[in-house]
Amino acid sequence: MSTSTNVALIIGSLRKASINRKFAEFIVSQLPDNVTATEVHIADLPLYNQDYDDQTIDSYDRVRKQIKDADAVLIVTPEHNRTMPAALKNVIDIASRPYKQSVWEGKKVAVVTASPGTYGGRASGLDVRKSMQMLSAQMMIRPEVYLGHATDSLDDEGNVSDRTQKFLQKFVNEFVIFAGNTSA
Ligand SMILES: Cc1cc2nc3c(=O)[nH]c(=O)nc-3n(C[C@H](O)[C@H](O)[C@H](O)COP(=O)(O)O)c2cc1C
Repeated sequence: MSTSTNVALIIGSLRKASINRKFAEFIVSQLPDNVTATEVHIADLPLYNQDYDDQTIDSYDRVRKQIKDADAVLIVTPEHNRTMPAALKNVIDIASRPYKQSVWEGKKVAVVTASPGTYGGRASGLDVRKSMQMLSAQMMIRPEVYLGHATDSLDDEGNVSDRTQKFLQKFVNEFVIFAGNTSA
């Protein structure tokens, strides 16, 4: 069993002041030393087009390799119009192709959503789970984390409230076991 765990982090929001990025940063800060998280940057990815399957696109190769090499993928994302943001769906599609070369197959994936709204981006998280099921990824089932009224859990400096820290710590504990367990 490997002693270090490599996590690929995907943040579904492209905006600088993203609240999802703040929660992702908190989660990453709580990972033990033997778990390393590296962000998969998605802002520069051209919109997926199947015509590109027989072309070399450096940014596509980069994200496919990052996801392929990761022991687990952590997605932290908002909800856009009751589904996942287009930029997140784009990287999921890119990494699922060319046909029969998907890097999602068997991949361990966890999702966290956050929204200022009541429902916490839950529909987005469920849609990520739906795509991952189709792609034969291993989704982390629980705890499910959909942070509602999430701006109330952040102060002006972006620090996460004690209450939400405690809640997220339970997720972190389970995620570390999930990501590092070679037989999961
Ligand atoms: C195009 C768009 C659609 C949105 N749709 C939803 C939605 O369906 N549900 C929701 O809870 N919030 C929705 N929001 C509000 C986002 O939750 C809010 O902007 C949040 O801060 C985005 O996360 P971020 O700060 O990480 O970018 C939407 C925002 C945008 C820009």
